[in-house]
Amino acid sequence: MIGILITGATGNVGGELIKIFSREAVGGAVAAVSNFAKDANRFPADIERREFDFTRPETFAAAMRGVDKVFLMRPPAISNVRRDIFPFLAYCRRANVKKIVLLSLLGAEKLWFTPHRKIELEILRLGLPYTFLRSSFFMQNLSTTHRDEIKNESEIFVPAGKGKTSFVDARDVAEVAFFSLFGAEHSNKAYQLTGNADLSYYEVAEILSRALGKHISYRDPSLASFIWRTWRSHRNLPFALVTAIIYTTARLGRAGLVTGDLGKILRRQPTSFQEFAKDYKECWL
Ligand SMILES: NC(=O)c1ccc[n+]([C@@H]2O[C@H](COP(=O)([O-])OP(=O)(O)OC[C@H]3O[C@@H](n4cnc5c(N)ncnc54)[C@H](OP(=O)(O)O)[C@@H]3O)[C@@H](O)[C@H]2O)c1
Repeated sequence: MIGILITGATGNVGGELIKIFSREAVGGAVAAVSNFAKDANRFPADIERREFDFTRPETFAAAMRGVDKVFLMRPPAISNVRRDIFPFLAYCRRANVKKIVLLSLLGAEKLWFTPHRKIELEILRLGLPYTFLRSSFFMQNLSTTHRDEIKNESEIFVPAGKGKTSFVDARDVAEVAFFSLFGAEHSNKAYQLTGNADLSYYEVAEILSRALGKHISYRDPSLASFIWRTWRSHRNLPFALVTAIIYTTARLGRAGLVTGDLGKILRRQPTSFQEFAKDYKECWL
């Protein structure tokens, strides 16, 4: 049986991809987890779990046993991809991996300085067969990173101004990843995955207010107060700075591109923000 290593198996897209393999009863999926002792009961019983850490090459061989396809995501905390991701790509080349489906970033082809573009270029240089999933901002950021402020303060606190974002549902991205792992037609392609609408955070707050039956307001803080508050709650300055840059991109009107790639691949409309809000309602109540 063909094995498929799913990195980021506890994360937004990897976690949803694991659920699809289990739901569709497609064998061969291997959940890569960086801490084997943790998360033992996190996955469905039919999903094999193996220890894997990009920064510990000694974990590669056992994790890759029998594997010939990889769903690859760059952990958000890894910024030095030459040091921390390239060794795994070289390993994939040596192991004759037949396909890498990479979770990338919308517009990565123009963003040469991003870790995502550097990984794309290394995959091309190594001649590994690929599909690049250049994804817009996930709706799930509102149910994870921003969950507490929505739940406890009834507000969204990001410095995006009136700028619009083409939010995409991570579940849709996982579905595209699933098809990309199998369909030959997706080989050596790059997709721009977005939702079906560009929304400002004022509109997002309105949609959430309706779904939750309580008023959620959008506060548009200054960059300085956003960075201060993010640093205070995460104690991680690079994280605070990177998220500030992401929201500034939205503020400047550079995050609103809506494409039809996702709908074409899935042969249906992308999940709307309204549907997402309904499905995740419980996490904010
Ligand atoms: N969030 C967005 O809106 C968005 C949009 C487009 C693209 N992206 C890109 O998508 C990628 C994932 O972002 P995300 O926010 O959705 O994060 P995520 O998948 O929720 O988060 C982290 C994952 O990274 C894994 N991980 C952490 N350190 C690791 C290591 N050293 N070795 C192996 N796995 C490790 C974690 O696994 P363990 O639990 O096993 O440690 C976890 O599954 C990033 O590259 C991001 O830039 C994100």
